[in-house]
Amino acid sequence: MSVIGTGYLGATHAACLAELGFEVVGVDHDHRKVARLNEGAAPFAEPGLDDLLARHVGTGRLRFTTEVADAAMSADVHFLCVGTPQSALGRSADLGAVFAAARDLARHLTRDCVVVGKSTVPVGTAERVARELERFAPPGVETVLAWNPEFLREGHAVLDTLHPDRLVLGVDTPDAELVLRGVYADAIARGVPVHVTDLATAELAKVAANAFLATKISFINAMADISDRSGADVVALADILGDDSRIGRRFLDAGVGFGGGCLPKDLRALSARAEELGAAQVSGLLREVDEINLRARSKVVDLALELCGGDLGARRVAVLGAAFKPLSDDVRDSPALDVALQVHRRGAEVRVFDPEAALNARSVAPELTYVASLEHALRGADLVLHLTEWPEFLETDPRWAAGLVARPVIIDGRNKLDLDGWTRAGWTIQAIGRPRRRDAARPFTAGGALASS
Ligand code: UDX
Repeated sequence: MSVIGTGYLGATHAACLAELGFEVVGVDHDHRKVARLNEGAAPFAEPGLDDLLARHVGTGRLRFTTEVADAAMSADVHFLCVGTPQSALGRSADLGAVFAAARDLARHLTRDCVVVGKSTVPVGTAERVARELERFAPPGVETVLAWNPEFLREGHAVLDTLHPDRLVLGVDTPDAELVLRGVYADAIARGVPVHVTDLATAELAKVAANAFLATKISFINAMADISDRSGADVVALADILGDDSRIGRRFLDAGVGFGGGCLPKDLRALSARAEELGAAQVSGLLREVDEINLRARSKVVDLALELCGGDLGARRVAVLGAAFKPLSDDVRDSPALDVALQVHRRGAEVRVFDPEAALNARSVAPELTYVASLEHALRGADLVLHLTEWPEFLETDPRWAAGLVARPVIIDGRNKLDLDGWTRAGWTIQAIGRPRRRDAARPFTAGGALASS
């Protein structure tokens, strides 16, 4: 089998196929990445992936190359796993790499094969990929296209690939279904639900799932807004909603909103695709979900301003977290980094601490100051922003932290800190969509702003 594109999805998929017992060749243009993978090392941090790569590169079952011709000759099932980033000019997905990979593969084919699309694409792409394969494959070589989206989460990529919640097999021939059933025989034997469907539904399943998750988060953030304006508590509300088995508690954590390499871009791409398809209202709904999400970030900045008496100039702000979520070093479209930058642009002296993501954060936001410890970030801070819920932040002793800062004032942008504990330790704590808690002994100006000392 071959896996074309060794980004997050492809590298994980290739390693997991090898784990399932298949001979796998991974293809990527990037020489350095290929060299690294051939040493058994993942090009990004992902629990368990290095182990799998090292083991299967070691046995020779898994190898990586920059030559698509090698893959075309040695495999009869090819997984297309190349990236589909947001296009530079708008909200739609840039499909350049998908079509280039399909054409490149087709040109080098020497035997009939099944091509399986796994990249996240706008509905309708598979049809175009099938045409490209047909057009560029040598005469007499037949290609069958299937679509088989992946729902893996960063930080759980190996687990999600080997133990998926469901399998989606987008096929239009029984042969393609048979091949995919063979690939996933282990999971199917364990009773993982299998959805055999057409190519368009399979393509849409992936973006619809991500758009739904995004909508759930923006919905609870919208309720956080209502809670802020009405004195309700959004965490209690989420618990109540979540106990309804039709709704479920997951993805109802209000706060600074969603980020990462998938949810924001997939939401925008689906909105753009809806518009192309003439579904303006659907496009508008998804655009609103995106805007509510971005508003969740600026809301934290507004709160920071308010807590600093309307001016962040020369205030020292400790930012806890840069990654888009904990246990990840990924800062793509990270709400934490976005808020840190907004606060910095308003004149604050920002110090960011993230246990894993500082290196990546520095490369996209070099204007911020990154420090090597939580203690360093907190020392002398006028305001603390908790923006990525790393376990070490949740386990921090608020009394210890209070002893380091200039003013014990914190915004919990993730609604994960223990409000009672932090208040008892002398902190003023503002969580999102929850009434502000403060130590009665602390001086505040009218309107809740912190008095300047
Ligand atoms: C997501 C999907 O979950 C996965 O199925 C898909 O294949 C890729 O996109 P991932 O990007 O790894 O996975 O992140 P996820 O764990 O879903 O979190 C997305 C963002 O939502 C994070 O920024 C997270 O902090 C935020 N989030 C999540 C909330 O703000 N509130 C919640 O309740 C849950």
